[in-house]
Amino acid sequence: MEKFVIEGGRKLSGEIRVSGSKNATLPILAATLLTDGICEIRNVPKLRDTWTMCKLLRSLGKTVDLSGNKVRVSGSANNHIADYKLVSTMRGSFCVLGPLLGKLGKAKVSMPGGCVIGVRPVDLHMKGIMALGVKADFDAGYVMAHAPQLKGAQMYLGGTFGSSVLATANVMMAASLAQGETVIESAACEPEIEDLGDFLSAMGAKIEGHGTPRIIINGARKLNGTNYKMGADRIEAGTFLIMAAAVKSDILVQDANYNHLLALIDKLHAIGVDVRKAGNNDVRVKVKKTLRPANIATHPHPGFPTDLQAQYMALMAITPGVSIITDRVFPDRFMHIAELNRMGAQIRRDAGSAIVEGVKQLYGAPVMASDLRASAALVIAGLVAKGRTEIHRIYHIDRGYEDLDRKLTGIGAKVFREKE
Ligand code: UD1
Repeated sequence: MEKFVIEGGRKLSGEIRVSGSKNATLPILAATLLTDGICEIRNVPKLRDTWTMCKLLRSLGKTVDLSGNKVRVSGSANNHIADYKLVSTMRGSFCVLGPLLGKLGKAKVSMPGGCVIGVRPVDLHMKGIMALGVKADFDAGYVMAHAPQLKGAQMYLGGTFGSSVLATANVMMAASLAQGETVIESAACEPEIEDLGDFLSAMGAKIEGHGTPRIIINGARKLNGTNYKMGADRIEAGTFLIMAAAVKSDILVQDANYNHLLALIDKLHAIGVDVRKAGNNDVRVKVKKTLRPANIATHPHPGFPTDLQAQYMALMAITPGVSIITDRVFPDRFMHIAELNRMGAQIRRDAGSAIVEGVKQLYGAPVMASDLRASAALVIAGLVAKGRTEIHRIYHIDRGYEDLDRKLTGIGAKVFREKE
């Protein structure tokens, strides 16, 4: 196991580059199960979650070759069982369900289980695939599903907390090889769904409306291989924007898609951060004045992303005044409060919200990464804190941030990776 050691309190400056999107890469890799053709995908982030998905694809019969940021997937899916060991470590693995049903007409996929960010049900995934004519049941921790012939259908996929990204992805992939037309109402509108729709189109699927709440898919008999370049990771980009605001530095975030981050940027403007487009793909962040606090509530896209809630909380922790942070997507996603408080933050939980009283200074301390985005919040806190912060269990960071220590060192941070 490794830990991050951060010597905080330094001004940072320069350029930091965003990698390809993790959350778009996972369903796109899963979509390669739909074809016997060769898929070459570029700008894939080198991450633990990417390797997990590649391992899962291999276990399902595909040949996967990795070279730098390029992944080449060939061969045919010939096994319909997605094993517990691979699905339980990463919820994203559950999105092999749709393509296995589309390609093989059957799937046995381990239930992803809960995780530290809260209970994560799969009812919307089940509702969606069953609308396509799939017979499905739960048995010994697995979803057992079969449908010799999938049939297109109209369905409503809205849930209690809004739309579901991976349920939308699963239905899109299954419907791409179904007979007839599928209409998904209340589909997730996240940019990762747009990416998946573009990838499926490049494979020959007839799909429109991806990126809106109404997606229409006309099933094809067969899909082909294709080449595709992953777009920027909006959550990594958003993390860097928040980090630049927290360390009050002038930083150019390269390969960031401004339009994917409007809810965050609007909030950063409201608290006094100067954020602007710099050329086609870059965003510059500067802080010239004292920041003010502002409340947020997370929502599905285009609302404020739950995956940036913890990082924003770290910023509010050092912004004098009171702010209220509510997570409407994962109401229990607050494991980072205790760790931020270890560094001197003043945050308390009140039902589905966190009440943050901004302090003047955080202090370095040993802390524990509980999940991927909470770890990013601790890195931001460590960068602004006085003294030395040790972040344990950084395998969470390596699940979703490519070369984070190297990237931060490049803008002047003192971050070291050490063996535990
Ligand atoms: C994806 C992202 C994750 C992000 C989340 C919300 C990937 C690999 N992961 O996860 O980083 O935090 O979107 O933006 O892309 N829900 C149900 N029933 C279901 C499915 C979901 O009630 O069957 C609820 C969830 O509990 C949650 C909400 O819907 O309250 C949104 O979850 P969902 O969009 O499904 O998250 P994921 O797709 O798993």
